[in-house]
Amino acid sequence: MGIKIHKYDAVIVGAGLAGLAAAKELTEAGKKTAVITKLHPLRSHSGAAQGGINAALGADDSTELHEFDTVKGSDYLADQDCVELMCTKAPETIRWAERMGAVFSRNEEGNIAIRPFGGQSQPRACFAKDRTGLTLLQTIYEQADRAGIEVFDEWYCSDLIYEDGKVSGVVAYNIKDSEPAIFNAKVTMFATGGHGRAYRFNSNAHANTGDSLSIVARKGLPLEDMEFVQFHPSGLGGSGVLISEAARGEGGRLFNSEGERFMTKYAPNAMELASRDVVSRAIMEEVRQGRGVGKDGQSMNLDLTHLDPEIILTKLPELRELSIAFQGQDMLKEAIHISATAHYSMGGIPTNINCQVEKNGNKELVEGFYAAGECACVSVHGANRLGANSVLEAMLFGRHAGQNMIKAIDEGITLRPAKASDADDCVNEMNTLLTSNGKERVPGIREELQAGMTKNAGVFRSEESLKAQLVIIDDLLIRFKDIRIDDKSKTFNTDLQEATELGHMLEFSKFIVDGALNREESRGGHYREDFTTRNDEKFMKHTYAYMDKDFKMRSEWGEVTLGKFEPMERKY
Ligand code: FUM
Repeated sequence: MGIKIHKYDAVIVGAGLAGLAAAKELTEAGKKTAVITKLHPLRSHSGAAQGGINAALGADDSTELHEFDTVKGSDYLADQDCVELMCTKAPETIRWAERMGAVFSRNEEGNIAIRPFGGQSQPRACFAKDRTGLTLLQTIYEQADRAGIEVFDEWYCSDLIYEDGKVSGVVAYNIKDSEPAIFNAKVTMFATGGHGRAYRFNSNAHANTGDSLSIVARKGLPLEDMEFVQFHPSGLGGSGVLISEAARGEGGRLFNSEGERFMTKYAPNAMELASRDVVSRAIMEEVRQGRGVGKDGQSMNLDLTHLDPEIILTKLPELRELSIAFQGQDMLKEAIHISATAHYSMGGIPTNINCQVEKNGNKELVEGFYAAGECACVSVHGANRLGANSVLEAMLFGRHAGQNMIKAIDEGITLRPAKASDADDCVNEMNTLLTSNGKERVPGIREELQAGMTKNAGVFRSEESLKAQLVIIDDLLIRFKDIRIDDKSKTFNTDLQEATELGHMLEFSKFIVDGALNREESRGGHYREDFTTRNDEKFMKHTYAYMDKDFKMRSEWGEVTLGKFEPMERKY
């Protein structure tokens, strides 16, 4: 039997907030839409977002202030036209979610409650206790399902069909039986989330292996600003599991082993609610200076014991449960141990303001290809993202991408028919991994990659550490060719999937390290110990990086869209 070719108006890879928002729009507009996801939609990592979603709803707030905080938080690298779109449409996005049925927490007047988050001059994170992402994901999934979206869940997307500057769908296989199929479409969207699993300490789900990034890069297309990785200040010590910034937003305080509230030294005004990059560096600096707590001295104390227990029980119940389950620490009674954890990628697949994928630093477009959410770089976060702006970005730009795809279809974008040979690379990759009998193993290579990324391309970086990490990655890329997996079957072969994912992790990690090496300055989440200040003259630019078939890197710069907020020194 030949390979099955499905035909759709639109195919979307990823079923988190961005993918589902787009799919709902398209399906409601009568466009035949397939959603492909390697998980069930409700297991998408959007559901792990805890603390909130930003919108300027407060009496003393404004969309302009939201814009300013976002641009300042980005260390002035965000594209200001995209930031303006996001912040002005944020209140409407909250109403859209609420009218779909999202149950937000309320204040005493019965309005949607808002709380402070880091780097924000006003409280503006709307929330549903500390399960904001889960609430939104369930709501949008219900409504997308009601609209009739077609979901191919537990299907693994392994290739993009790209020829002559145009994308016409993807190749994916059913994890149940490893049977590949072609999804041929007029428009294609990637909404596959983040890639935090490249790091040893991370807050990300196991699925966050960044597959789509290298799938795009393997076509000779660029990735943008990959050097900017966000380290969240509060992952549980040892595991990196997220303890929401909401804990500090509700009043949590940070102390070192000497009982010092150390943020007084690093951000005397904003303290624990400085921007994430600032707080993470402060935590790691205290650890480096020997003032850490916990078994290995790698953590800081996050103390909430001074708060009214009702605040914890009603607004942070999940955080309390996580701390008890993972560390045996009850935040009602004692400080919990936290440390900086790899959390979010500011970079990704470059897109313009309409979520159309760009093919170079001159911002020329790939036809029929869109991306939104964490895998994309529309660049609303620049060099550092503010907490509670990612859930907003995913929903808002996911929906926006859907609307732009509808427009493209209505304007007559054509379906370029796929051919069976479009699945050749997918089939070859699968067969190579299934039949290879080398001596290297997936977990070993993955652990070496993750440990090296945390040590050499983490919160602090230098030319020396980054060059060391490039050597490690190049060596691992060679060793990966000599891989062997135990399961040679085609039934729910997680060995095969993990090996494929590891190939992607190795490749996109090289973009992170190469970009970090080229960017000889410190900006937002990218901190170079050998270039400790921001250098606007040389580096107020987006990185567009490419990888060739031999894993050699090349990069060029792209212009930043400036606007009403003039770059200035960032202080908290
Ligand atoms: O801390 C948090 O709740 C995470 C939120 C975010 O990354 O936006």
